[in-house]
Amino acid sequence: MATKTVTDTEILNKIGNTPLVKLNSLSDSKKTYHAKLEGHNPFGSVKDRAAYWMIKDGEERGVLKRGETIIIEPTSGNTGIALTGIAQMLGYKVEIVIPEKASDETKKIIESLGAKLYQTSDDLCPKVGAGTDQSIALATSIASSRPDKYFSPNQYANEANYLGHYKGTGPEIWKQTDGKITHFFTGVGTGGTITGVSAFLKEKNPNVKIIAVQPQQNHLIQGLRNFEESAKPDLFLKREYVVDDWITINNEKAFSAVKEVFAKEKMLVSPSSGAVYASMKEYKINSGNIVGIFADDGRKFKSLYAQQKVFTESEFDAALKKAEHMSQIVYM
Ligand SMILES: Cc1ncc(COP(=O)(O)O)c(C=O)c1O
Repeated sequence: MATKTVTDTEILNKIGNTPLVKLNSLSDSKKTYHAKLEGHNPFGSVKDRAAYWMIKDGEERGVLKRGETIIIEPTSGNTGIALTGIAQMLGYKVEIVIPEKASDETKKIIESLGAKLYQTSDDLCPKVGAGTDQSIALATSIASSRPDKYFSPNQYANEANYLGHYKGTGPEIWKQTDGKITHFFTGVGTGGTITGVSAFLKEKNPNVKIIAVQPQQNHLIQGLRNFEESAKPDLFLKREYVVDDWITINNEKAFSAVKEVFAKEKMLVSPSSGAVYASMKEYKINSGNIVGIFADDGRKFKSLYAQQKVFTESEFDAALKKAEHMSQIVYM
């Protein structure tokens, strides 16, 4: 059994309790908008929560044995970073199956944290159900060929992914808004965030309105899923009833929001956070207390932003120096 150092334990204890910051550019006398900055998790995204809860659950059920089990998972990025970072600290080897379209920075981070990387020619977000889902198929076939050695948390159906948000993110948001939240916006990958947070909030106040943000088909928004081109994951389907409304944001709107958030809020955000900001701006609300999930920050997207003409490389470097609310990330 690998020995946990104090430092590792301290890092793992820092998962969750992320800041909620006011978005002055959207707020007025009747509406207050906030972003929940999940980039402040130690490995830089909302996925630290799911990864940690799924590993702990696997240990409690006895399917994970430190120093023996290899964790394998298909992911479009953040889960790979989170699982690799957390699992290594706890004494597991990790193998990640990722679509080659994920950003180069993401792939480099996963490798530098010590995972073996398999790349597939899937679309950006591995599709569940019918259609191309090579990442999921490859991870499943490796895991099932050696069940004694491999364990795949399967974030798309794992209840611990939901529970991390039901017991963590949801109560945090309730407390941070003094129970005054009226609207909640988030993108959907596996559905863990939206179902967990929303189930908790609606138990507290059934009138809280839940708005799911989806990218266009064939999108460039790492971490999110469009449900016209991809089947809904089991985890999401189980509690899909929490969603009151949907809004679709195209690539262009998401990327121009990334620029706008930097100009107006001095925050360097990720494409999916741009999509959430754009949806909060576009969705008509007369009054209320609104929270959106900013699932990670913009650090991993220098090459994508240059390619999409959001920021040139030198503009990106300058923005990174000026950006506020950036966190300390373990792999940096
Ligand atoms: C980058 C990113 N990852 C993950 C998620 C949420 O994922 P999940 O539905 O798997 O909890 C989001 C949601 O906004 C996201 O933007």
